[in-house]
Amino acid sequence: MNQDYIIPDNWSILEEGFDAERVEASESLFSLGNGAMGQRANFEEEYSGDTFQGSYIAGVYYPDKTKVGWWKNGYPEYFAKVLNAPNWIGINVFINGEVLDLDACKEIRGFRRELNMKEGWYERSFTAIMPNEMEVAVKVVRFLSLKRNELGVINYDLEVKNSDATIIFEPYLDSGITNEDANWEEKFWKTLEVKFENEQAFITAKTLKTEFHATAFMQSKLFKNAKAVKTEPIEVSFDEKVIFRYTTEAKKGEKVALHKFGGYVTDMNHKRNDLIDAAKNVLDDAVPAGYDKLLQEQKDAWAGIWEMADITIEGDVKAQQGIRFNIFQLNQTYLGEDARLNIGPKGFTGEKYGGSTYWDTEAYCIPFYMATKNHEVARNLLTYRYNHLGKAIENAEKLGFTNGAALYPMVTMNGEESHNEWEITFEEIHRNGAMVVAIKRYVDYTGDFSYVPEKGLEVMIAIARFWQQRANYSTQKDKFVILGVTGPNEYENNVNNNWYTNYIAKWCIDYCLASMERVEKEFSSDYMRVMKKTGLQDEEISRWREVSEKMYFPYSEEYKVFLQQDNFLDKEIIPVSELPRSQRPINQKWSWDRILRSCYIKQADVLQGFYFFEDHFSLEDMEKHFDFYEPLTVHESSLSPCVHSIQAAALGRMEQAYQFYLRTSRLDLDDYNNEVKEGCHITSMAGTWMSIVEGFGGMRVVDGKLSFNPRIPEGWESYSFKINFRDKILKINVAPGKTSFTLEGNESLKILVKENTVEVKPSVPLTV
Ligand code: BGC
Repeated sequence: MNQDYIIPDNWSILEEGFDAERVEASESLFSLGNGAMGQRANFEEEYSGDTFQGSYIAGVYYPDKTKVGWWKNGYPEYFAKVLNAPNWIGINVFINGEVLDLDACKEIRGFRRELNMKEGWYERSFTAIMPNEMEVAVKVVRFLSLKRNELGVINYDLEVKNSDATIIFEPYLDSGITNEDANWEEKFWKTLEVKFENEQAFITAKTLKTEFHATAFMQSKLFKNAKAVKTEPIEVSFDEKVIFRYTTEAKKGEKVALHKFGGYVTDMNHKRNDLIDAAKNVLDDAVPAGYDKLLQEQKDAWAGIWEMADITIEGDVKAQQGIRFNIFQLNQTYLGEDARLNIGPKGFTGEKYGGSTYWDTEAYCIPFYMATKNHEVARNLLTYRYNHLGKAIENAEKLGFTNGAALYPMVTMNGEESHNEWEITFEEIHRNGAMVVAIKRYVDYTGDFSYVPEKGLEVMIAIARFWQQRANYSTQKDKFVILGVTGPNEYENNVNNNWYTNYIAKWCIDYCLASMERVEKEFSSDYMRVMKKTGLQDEEISRWREVSEKMYFPYSEEYKVFLQQDNFLDKEIIPVSELPRSQRPINQKWSWDRILRSCYIKQADVLQGFYFFEDHFSLEDMEKHFDFYEPLTVHESSLSPCVHSIQAAALGRMEQAYQFYLRTSRLDLDDYNNEVKEGCHITSMAGTWMSIVEGFGGMRVVDGKLSFNPRIPEGWESYSFKINFRDKILKINVAPGKTSFTLEGNESLKILVKENTVEVKPSVPLTV
């Protein structure tokens, strides 16, 4: 744990006291999003201290030309960057001619931030003594509307406490912004038009190369003692900025407020020529509705989300705050309504990881969205990859694969690979397997097989083709091997026969063959269509079978475990517990070379395989592998603790499961990996949800039935979660020695509890 300033609370993230050192971390933690846009918790007014400015629009990116020391054939041309978008939140504040800047104030009292997750708003308040001795009390509330997802609203409340004063608010729009992360220090936006009329302002800008067009807009209203003031602001405009200046005289103790309405419209959703009209429409609807009504809409919309997605924990406020923070951030990032969008590992909270799509979505996020929303959302996530199949085939062709073999990118915005480190792009091929795991999980959970004949089978065939071509026959071993890979553990590169990769490769082929059989029987016309489209022949299928049957798996007779890779045991094996604390995280303290040679594992690797394919192994096997690998794992990927928490729970090691749970759920709040100022780890937050539902709740799908094996961490009085299983809504409440199930609707549901079948009747809680 690297920080502990966040105050525990069931529903809010709270910070008290101003500390300039914490500003960037809090900018991440108090971020806002509504699925379509998001922003770090930057101050509205001027701030000359260290800050990381970030406003982001979903799906809008820039292909930043790859920068590497030595170009290698096959490198992607660019790395996709999420873009800091034009600033619409800015409001300069002047009191008697002096700018309000917290970095310059003589004293700051009562500084407080609250991210109210229940209702979806962020508030910041403080009293400051400015260099000119003016004592100002400020309270700012901001939210990004879920209902009107192009709109954000700010209520900037201010009172000068010790004097009459001239107050100036300068709300502005600014497209002269830059990215922290830019390979060539270039600007990514070009401003096309700055326009204002009748207290409304618009800046239209386009991204270079990708040519996304976005119009940022704003309109403000001034209030004195809660009454609207008639205003005629002075407009000042520059090439990339437009400012409205509102000046007002306030008596000592009089309250003034500026309501600012702003946001973005883009050509992803409107015709390019209509952007300003679209922005006007948003303002013309929102401004007359007013702040209070819009805030109420926000509260109602979040209530709707929580109704289905909430997890309650009684008796452990830090754990409760952690899980709600995770669920809140996931919903701020992705709501599943737009199949063009996906879940970036940092969501709208930072630039790192390009805001792009990783295997994280398939490996970690699908279960959460599948269970807390309707099935269309998970289907949209699968369709996203189906729509990128052509590009995945091109991507494989660039690397020399043929005949429709597909390699899905490690990182993408539009289907093209846009990560440019060779050990990831070329070698971290296990990601292909997660695409198929996601399809299987979707089918098992929703019971909706129709996705496979419609779309999924084509994806699986292309992936099976890839694995068959990527494996090669070793005469030495009389087996098929997969050489030169990086497994999920990115702390080893270019290894041979990473067990996880080999295992998932074989499984992808087997699952594809089994799915083909079912499609042929049950959906024959789709079968014919897919066979024709893919040109798949029996002879190719027999090559797949050969690879699957003769796949090589490194194994240690001595330890009776599968080896992470051929040479794993050549390493010096020293458990993490013997590493001095001062040496960690090793990715910040050690050279890369030292890391690569060490036995330390960044995240679940062999254990990731045991997680996906738990039913292929006995509990004893899992325990043996867990005891071998976990002690060597440094958990320096956010994706690591959740898998370990689920497995520790399955092994009945509740204390360990709980420690991993805290680490996953409070990873950002307590900054375990010492990097939260770069943004929050959004995709692993879905892993936190899994830690409770699959870990403590022991939820699985067994032969089409929901199965539970509930356990509860010591000290918790109870916890509860709700899931949508095949359109039936089931609420599960677990207390020590007692679990109850409540079913909504009017059909009953048979489930397994500790392997016994029980029937839950609608609206009659069943307690076991
Ligand atoms: C992990 C990857 C993950 C990526 C984005 C990396 O640190 O090693 O597995 O896909 O972060 O979350």
